[in-house]
Amino acid sequence: MKNWLICIMIGLYGCANGQATAPESKTKDLLIADFEGEDYGHWQVTGEAFGPAPVKGTLPNQMNVSGYEGRGLVNSYYKGDDTTGTLVSPSFGIQRRFIHFLIGGGKDPENTCINLVVDGKTVRTATGPNDRPGGSEQLDWHSWNVADLVGKSAKIEIIDRKKGGWGHINIDHIIQSDSPIQKPETTRKFVVKKRYLNLPVKNGAPKRVFRLICDGRVVRDFDIELADAEPDFWVVLDLSEFKGREVTLKAESLGRNSKGLVSAVQSNSIKGGENLYKEKLRPRFHFTSRRGWNNDSNGMVYYKGEYHLFYQHNPYGWNWGNMTWGHAVSKDLIHWTELGDAIHPDGLGTIFSGSAVVDERNTAGFQTGDEKPIVCFYTSAGGTNAESAGQPFTQSIAYSNDRGRTWKKYENNPIIKHINGGNRDPKVIWHEPTAEWVMVLYIEDNTMTFFSSKDLKDWQRHSDIKCYHECPELFELAVDGDQNNRKWVLYGASGDYLIGQFDGREFKKEGESIKFEYGNCFYASQTFNNIPQEDGRRIQIAWGRVAMPGMPFNQQMLFPVELTLRTTDEGIRMFAEPVEELDMLHAGKHTVKNEILKPRENPLSGIEGDLFHIIVQFDLGGATEFGFVIRGRAITYDAQKQEISCKDKKAFLKPAGGKIRMEILVDRTSIEIFANGGRVYMPMGVILPDDNTEIEVFTKNGNTKIDSLDVYELRSAWK
Ligand code: FRU
Repeated sequence: MKNWLICIMIGLYGCANGQATAPESKTKDLLIADFEGEDYGHWQVTGEAFGPAPVKGTLPNQMNVSGYEGRGLVNSYYKGDDTTGTLVSPSFGIQRRFIHFLIGGGKDPENTCINLVVDGKTVRTATGPNDRPGGSEQLDWHSWNVADLVGKSAKIEIIDRKKGGWGHINIDHIIQSDSPIQKPETTRKFVVKKRYLNLPVKNGAPKRVFRLICDGRVVRDFDIELADAEPDFWVVLDLSEFKGREVTLKAESLGRNSKGLVSAVQSNSIKGGENLYKEKLRPRFHFTSRRGWNNDSNGMVYYKGEYHLFYQHNPYGWNWGNMTWGHAVSKDLIHWTELGDAIHPDGLGTIFSGSAVVDERNTAGFQTGDEKPIVCFYTSAGGTNAESAGQPFTQSIAYSNDRGRTWKKYENNPIIKHINGGNRDPKVIWHEPTAEWVMVLYIEDNTMTFFSSKDLKDWQRHSDIKCYHECPELFELAVDGDQNNRKWVLYGASGDYLIGQFDGREFKKEGESIKFEYGNCFYASQTFNNIPQEDGRRIQIAWGRVAMPGMPFNQQMLFPVELTLRTTDEGIRMFAEPVEELDMLHAGKHTVKNEILKPRENPLSGIEGDLFHIIVQFDLGGATEFGFVIRGRAITYDAQKQEISCKDKKAFLKPAGGKIRMEILVDRTSIEIFANGGRVYMPMGVILPDDNTEIEVFTKNGNTKIDSLDVYELRSAWK
């Protein structure tokens, strides 16, 4: 019963002879039960519905349960609606004028209810709010005025006698109090004067649903782990679109005494922004979102000197959720400027992954001025609301006529209806030979499907290929730089790829799937559309799955890599190398040339830093192992096994002409390893320790020759 916080007030029962005394004002609330413990303590359980212990939130197959306090609650959905049972408290003395509690679940007065029992009789009762399909698993405050019962001994019974729809009851935080329940204000009306509304977040707090209403229309709808008091960090609701207008922000419910909504402030900057980009784990030359969660790179497209990077963004929380397209631009792939979120959830759903093109020929007819339209294809992940009913996954368009600064959704969205499963992640490209647009779309069951279109709006489906899970990518590359020998590459979220032919309708693979990368954090990458011919590079950015504990942001992008197809003794392979723009961050340089490295020597001793770009060529000598230890983390080449490894990740790597080359990028939360010109690509998410800034090059059991070694210290891309 350790940690058991249910406090039964038997011992505190102060009115011994049963006389009701007028409650003193300013008395302290008395906790009857908060259900935060590992079992039900002295409460008596019968039947199955209440399970063995209080529940931490939502049970399997249940709609999201919210509005409870702390982490635990009573939730009789244990094994579904058909289980029944009772949960009865020990006796306690009524010592305050009110009993308050949180309640949710079914609305069946006799069968899904909470009762106050005095002298064997039910003297108060309450139910949840739901008596029909749909509804909500949100708990809300309920209060019994028990002034007439003060001094009496009582029990609380929680009853679930109902099977089938809404056959369960949820209860939390039962207290005695002399004050009526104070429901915090859940609505704020204000005129938008500043760019942002700062909202406080506490990781792990119950999720509250917020809606922003402008001119009677819900314009934002999201959930947030709202801090009722001191926040972990602040996020921003971007109000720029509504400048000068009166808006209403509504919370579906709030914690008792929550300051969450009243503390929200308008401002032109992010609260806590003094520390922006100075945070302990903020990568120094990798893209991360200023605030909130990111996953997949989306909509990667180049237009008029700017690389556009969109990304799966939760603007309001540290975890995945509220999927929105975040947006940043860069002139050089190194320095990124966030423009704010571009595509927000709407009645069709939240905004899942997709791609972007520049409609040079105005095929869709979206162009209004001189700028070419940038057209984004995204997935609406909907399902529950009227607009998206029966269409859980559809594809839609948003476009911009001002270089991506403002966005409009196409009026006839969606352009592709729900297929089955979860069609998502449309990648659209211009296919020159057929002079048509092509879309490759993930449908389900490791299947990609190909569509074509003349106007970006109307799409014909042609063929399917079973290959990979989600996030398809499709492009053509010259083999060994030979423009007369071009092959198509098709890949999915893992990066593993097929090489083959594509005629605008069907992909014909030549050979089996090839493993692309060997690291621990790569996922859901994309390459830029529309890179000018004179550049001609195929540049990829992947989501780097790296958790950022304690930070106001979470996850990162991997460093942009250039993809090439090269002939190897195993056949044609896709190589990945970091883009050369990294060189602009070079600061100090340390060079070793033509040096025999002996065991226990470290020509890099004395060099310290936290960001490095290392380029090395080893000539295999007699050593069994050689490599680097970077800020405590080893990167090892095992000459006998012909294997390069970092942490638990390994890749087979044959020396090329007796040499092993490595290029290594070191940032605060990642080490990206490229070996033998990108034959092996091993991006590693690792949080490097602050207190170790040393690097070492080593050899074991024999000498190695360093043909050349350049260690560049790097400047941060941010000020
Ligand atoms: C891949 C993915 C996509 C989806 C998106 C949602 O990581 O699951 O398939 O569109 O993330 O955030």
